[in-house]
Amino acid sequence: MAQLEVILTPAELPAFAQRDLRDATCVVFDVLRATSTFVTALHHGAKAIVPVSEISEALAIRQKQPDVLLGGERDGVRIRTDQTGGGDFDLGNSPREYTPEKVRGKTIVSTTTNGTRALRACTGAQTVLAASFLNLTATAQFIRQLQPAQILLVCAGTRENIATEDMLAAGALGEMLIGWGETTGEPKREQKYSGSRGRSPHQKGIYEFSDSVETALSAWRKAKSNLLEVVSEAENARRLLAIPELRDDVAFCLQQDKYPLVAQMEDGAVIRMLR
Ligand code: MLT
Repeated sequence: MAQLEVILTPAELPAFAQRDLRDATCVVFDVLRATSTFVTALHHGAKAIVPVSEISEALAIRQKQPDVLLGGERDGVRIRTDQTGGGDFDLGNSPREYTPEKVRGKTIVSTTTNGTRALRACTGAQTVLAASFLNLTATAQFIRQLQPAQILLVCAGTRENIATEDMLAAGALGEMLIGWGETTGEPKREQKYSGSRGRSPHQKGIYEFSDSVETALSAWRKAKSNLLEVVSEAENARRLLAIPELRDDVAFCLQQDKYPLVAQMEDGAVIRMLR
């Protein structure tokens, strides 16, 4: 039986420091937009993306490695001179900026409000994946082959809060994994039981999962037929839709399986897995 869990808000991330994640696969979603942008950059030939929490960390890396590109956002927009004390960052956090011409062969150091922090919080895990709607099925297939004992679908969120689009992507991935898990020869069943100390996980096929997974699954099932409409009501999307040059990012990031690649964090950098 594998454990499947959704981390719905970034407020849960500090507890990771106390958790044993050595047999866990963490799948980080920041649909709008960090993980969508990383997946796009890798598809367009970027060598690696190094997620850092602070602007100062990005600047320190560039001092030592002048060839890296600096990317990311604060309040959704590119980091500018008044925030760096030097020049503007090379790139913002719009996936549409990460064209082959700009990123091919490059290492990009990125700092964003939630996404890069969520990735960094997972560094104790055996495997850390950056996922989005853009590479959903490829990510699910990779996890299926890996067969980890513990899978945590980590929603990067908005500030300290839940982000609808991240929860929906976690629900979509959960639906794939659970659906496939039913066809692996394990008994086909879905039940609730009252285990010891009042824990009552749900079970289906090879997975045992918590209420947070049920929450994400049911949100996804309700939203999937009109995803753009549902996500457009959410805070992150409303902020992007109000900025003319960024409004198209919302629809872009909701495209499913545009880039069938797996993005894995290794030694602090997100790279494209060769499959
Ligand atoms: C984040 O990391 O919080 C986001 O990706 C924000 C954004 O790109 O607007």
